[in-house]
Amino acid sequence: MSLSVQATAYAAAACRAAETRSARPRLVDPLAALFTPDGVAAPVASLADAGREEVVGRTVLIDTMLVETLARRPGAAVVNLGAGYCTRPYRLELPCREVVEADDPALLALKEQVLRGQTPRCPVRRVGLDVRDPTALTALLASAGDGGAVVVVTEGLLVYLASEQVRTLAGVLAGVSGVVGWLADIVGADSARQMAAVAQRVPGGLALHGLDSLDPLERPGWRVAAYRALPVARPRYGPGPAAASRTVVDGVLSLEKAEP
Ligand SMILES: C[S@@+](CC[C@H](N)C(=O)[O-])C[C@H]1O[C@@H](n2cnc3c(N)ncnc32)[C@H](O)[C@@H]1O
Repeated sequence: MSLSVQATAYAAAACRAAETRSARPRLVDPLAALFTPDGVAAPVASLADAGREEVVGRTVLIDTMLVETLARRPGAAVVNLGAGYCTRPYRLELPCREVVEADDPALLALKEQVLRGQTPRCPVRRVGLDVRDPTALTALLASAGDGGAVVVVTEGLLVYLASEQVRTLAGVLAGVSGVVGWLADIVGADSARQMAAVAQRVPGGLALHGLDSLDPLERPGWRVAAYRALPVARPRYGPGPAAASRTVVDGVLSLEKAEP
C-alpha cells in the first residue's frame, strides 16, 4: 500500500475534525483532531476540503447502519478493514464483543500512540494487515469470530482497490462462515473519475477505482440487503454523471450472504 493511500486516513480525520468544530455538526468526533494537531499538509488539506461532504456523509450512514446491524446481531465482533483513524469505538455505544481494526502496521502504531489514555466503550484490538492478502485476512476474521458472528466494515477502502481486488476481498469475506454482514461504502466509476483530479494533488498521486456494477460484490456471494445513497452532489468535481438506471450511485451498502 502506498504512503499516499495512507495519507487519506489523515484527510478523513481532518474532515471529521472540521465537522466537529462546525456550528451544527452531523457527527461529533472529538478525537479526530488529535490526528491532525497542526493541520495537515496542503495537498491532504485540499483532499479533505473537497471530500468533506462525502466523508462525513458516509461516516454518519455507517454509524447508523452499524448500530442497526448490531441490534440484530448483539455480541457480534466488528472487523473494520482499512480502519485508518476511525474512532467509532470511542464515539459510539456498540453492543459488540470487540472491534478489530486492521490497517497498515505503522499507521496503527501511530494510532495506538495518539489514543493512549483514551477509553473505548468496547474492547478494541488492532492488527497490521494488507487486506489484499487473503491468507492473513482469513486468519484475522477467524480470530475475531472465535466461533461467533462477525460484521465487517470497509469505509473509504474499496475505492483504493481495483475491481479484481474488490472481487477477491468479497470472496474471502464470503468464504468465512462466521462473517454474517458487511457494511461498505461504494463509489461509482464516474465519481471516481471526477475525484481523480483532486487526488492527483497528493504527492505520489492516488489511483482511484470506482465500481461499474455490483458484480465484484455479488458474484462472490453477497447480496444487497439495504442501500442508502450519499447525500452528495459533486459540485467541486465538475458536472455529474449522466443519469442511467444501471449507474452505481455513491452510497453505503449493507451486504448479507446470498446463501447463508
Ligand atoms: C480513506 S482512508 C479511510 C480510513 C477510515 N476507514 C475512515 O473512514 O476514516 C483509507 C484507509 O484504507 C487503508 N488501506 C488502503 N489500502 C489498504 C490495504 N490494502 N490494506 C489495509 N489497509 C488499506 C489506508 O491505510 C487508510 O487508512
